[in-house]
Amino acid sequence: MEMEGFAPSGSREAELLQKIDESRLPRHLAVIMDGNGRWAGSRSLPRVAGHRAGIESVREIVESSARLGMEALTLYAFSVENWKRPRSEVRTLMALLKKYLRQELGQIHANNIRFLAIGRIRELEASVREELRHAMRVTAKNTGMHLYVALNYSGRAEIVDAFNLLLRERRKNGDTAPVDEEAIARRLYTSAVPDPDLLIRTSGEMRISNFLLWQIAYSEIYITPTYWPDFRRLHLLEAILEYQKRDRRYGGIQAPCEGKP
Ligand code: IPE
Ligand code: IPE
Ligand code: MG
Repeated sequence: MEMEGFAPSGSREAELLQKIDESRLPRHLAVIMDGNGRWAGSRSLPRVAGHRAGIESVREIVESSARLGMEALTLYAFSVENWKRPRSEVRTLMALLKKYLRQELGQIHANNIRFLAIGRIRELEASVREELRHAMRVTAKNTGMHLYVALNYSGRAEIVDAFNLLLRERRKNGDTAPVDEEAIARRLYTSAVPDPDLLIRTSGEMRISNFLLWQIAYSEIYITPTYWPDFRRLHLLEAILEYQKRDRRYGGIQAPCEGKP
């Protein structure tokens, strides 16, 4: 695909971009941003230095995904299990989130991106909630990419929340009809967008870590050894190219190749 100003001509990024089929981009990309601590450790730096460096990757992946024309990008930033970490690390992560929002909101808004925090947001500290609410308010009417940032997030908790919402509504309406998948899917945090086509996990761990359990039923999974702070536009393009080579069968059979009997 062609895209002016996306990558300098002759660069590896420009070369990869050429190979990407514009008509088969993932509509929704989800990312487990992992490996900040190991990135820092490999440089004999404290873990928080990895989180700080990871912000630059977030900036670049958000901007690139929007420019490529994706409908949704969901970033796993803080899980309900991450509270087990030392208090000082949690505090730094929350401070970095606020800093990121303050610094990047203008650019996010200028790129017509709609910012949405997902997870049990009410359990976050007040100053973080306020910053998130502000970002959501400012970008609420934007019509471009949905940027979901998963905070105090758990895939199981999301399904529980959807069930409870459904139960409340059914009690109110006196509805006793059987529940179907659609009824649950419509009450998930990301119900406004299609399920992720592509799930990327950085830093090599072969697990899901409680991320988007319902929505990734048929997502293509791409795991790269690259640590999150090193994961940039080039790596995103590599992942998309690999995704475009996959044969998504959804339980069916391979599409027949032309010329074959
Ligand atoms: C991802 O990097 C960031 C968060 C989970 C908040 P990690 O902090 O998990 O880094 P590693 O996995 O320990 O290297
Ligand atoms: C997953 O990474 C959560 C986020 C990226 C926010 P973790 O580092 O918390 O996951 P585990 O502990 O390796 O499964
Ligand atoms: Mg980790």
